[in-house]
Amino acid sequence: MNDNDRSKLTRSRPVRESISEMTEIVLPNDANPLNALLGGRLMHWIDLAGAMAAHRHSRTYVVTASIDHLDFLVPVRVGDFVILRSSVNRVFRTSMEVGVKVWVENYRSDQHLHVSSAYLTFVAIDAAGNKVVVPPVVPETEEEQRRYEGAARRREIRRAERARRMEVRA
Ligand SMILES: CC(C)(COP(=O)(O)OP(=O)(O)OC[C@H]1O[C@@H](n2cnc3c(N)ncnc32)[C@H](O)[C@@H]1OP(=O)(O)O)[C@@H](O)C(=O)NCCC(=O)NCCS
Repeated sequence: MNDNDRSKLTRSRPVRESISEMTEIVLPNDANPLNALLGGRLMHWIDLAGAMAAHRHSRTYVVTASIDHLDFLVPVRVGDFVILRSSVNRVFRTSMEVGVKVWVENYRSDQHLHVSSAYLTFVAIDAAGNKVVVPPVVPETEEEQRRYEGAARRREIRRAERARRMEVRA
């Protein structure tokens, strides 16, 4: 890769370049005996959808460092579509916060409901597993600006909670 190609990869990018969407159809293997989607399966899809946005923004490998609190607001049934939309909210140094919003769509009843929202932190790494600095993300819309500002507050909360957990463990 020449210097020109490298600088294209390390430039700052608007949030919109990281936006990713993933759709899954819920199959019996994703569900419990009552035909409701397993929470763990949805967490897996949230992780994947979040990683897509993180990869698109950072143009490198990433690992999931943390997932914030998750609520499952409505049940999802076998046969429903699950739609996950993700984007990078903010970059710190080697880490970035990604937001993932999940909807369920039932094509028979024409219902479209919000299922869950999650914030994930991904850390960028190279092929050898070393952390790498991520280029800044540029919010362009009011909504993106709101998420960008919220991400800084959430990072402080995460840090404080992490420090508290370390104290408890020591
Ligand atoms: C996440 C990981 C790379 C952090 O490595 P580390 O050497 O402890 O990291 P540092 O303390 O130097 O922090 C690196 C960055 O990660 C962030 N970070 C570390 N732990 C974090 C956590 N639990 N939640 C959110 N951010 C975290 C730091 O704030 C820092 O961000 P910045 O560079 O943007 O300021 C490391 O703990 C790891 O590899 N964990 C396993 C990840 C994994 O395998 N995930 C898949 C699920 S098993």
